[in-house]
Amino acid sequence: MKTVLITGANKSIGYETAAQLAGQGYRIFLGARDLKKGEEAVAQLKAKGLTQVEAIQIDVTDKASIEAARDLIAQKVSSLDVLINNAGISGGMPQNPIDVPIETVKKVYDTNVFGAIMVTQAFYPLLEKSPEPRIVMVTSGLGSLTAHSDPNSRFYTFNPGAYGPSKTALNAYTVALAHTLRDPFKVNAVCPGYTKTDFNQHQGPGSVEDAAKIIVKYATIGVDGPTGKYFSNDLNPGGEAPW
Ligand SMILES: NC(=O)c1ccc[n+]([C@@H]2O[C@H](COP(=O)([O-])OP(=O)(O)OC[C@H]3O[C@@H](n4cnc5c(N)ncnc54)[C@H](OP(=O)(O)O)[C@@H]3O)[C@@H](O)[C@H]2O)c1
Repeated sequence: MKTVLITGANKSIGYETAAQLAGQGYRIFLGARDLKKGEEAVAQLKAKGLTQVEAIQIDVTDKASIEAARDLIAQKVSSLDVLINNAGISGGMPQNPIDVPIETVKKVYDTNVFGAIMVTQAFYPLLEKSPEPRIVMVTSGLGSLTAHSDPNSRFYTFNPGAYGPSKTALNAYTVALAHTLRDPFKVNAVCPGYTKTDFNQHQGPGSVEDAAKIIVKYATIGVDGPTGKYFSNDLNPGGEAPW
């Protein structure tokens, strides 16, 4: 049975990703920074008949928490097949680049960039033991420099000064990582699209089902699948997006 860790999976897109992968027969380590919320999410999944799911406490900004999660998972399984770095924060909007507090920028980077890097580094030894390791970085169309510099793009005039750059940085790390790891790893940046969740006070038009679907697609991509690429439901639904 293949194994997956999803960070920030106690609700919203991460939770639905856990549900879809559990439905495909994956054994799920459902990451939650608040273990109680994680256990509640697991109880909901089990009530739907998805039994191969367990909650793991993991705060992606806390190295000790990440290492404890890694050690716990290493006691249960000999390898990890899929890592989904989903946990993310917006930092609150608006974020005018000229006056967004530097504390906000640092906080957003701590979760969206440094957190994803710390988790990836901690779990690399377990991923390396999988014959077909997959890493998905959950990013955003707002991380695309191409879209932000294209006057015809709807992102041209929407420039949150902390969140957007954090996802651009995550994209850059994805490229560096993919090119370093290479075969048999597949490492991709995947944007779930503007989705109705707590993240945006439920303003996004998309469903968590569709958001999770694109994440699941690249979490389960076959040996001939892409690596080091960017896919975005916002920028180019169903296809590759410009960095
Ligand atoms: N929704 C959208 O429109 C949209 C669009 C593009 C990209 N995304 C990306 O998709 C991902 C999921 O977004 P979402 O809409 O599902 O957001 P959400 O509803 O706000 O859920 C975020 C999840 O991340 C967790 N989290 C936050 N900080 C964490 C930390 N330090 N350690 C561990 N977990 C942490 C949250 O835990 P708590 O419950 O404890 O807060 C929650 O489980 C994010 O990376 C986001 O940037 C979302």
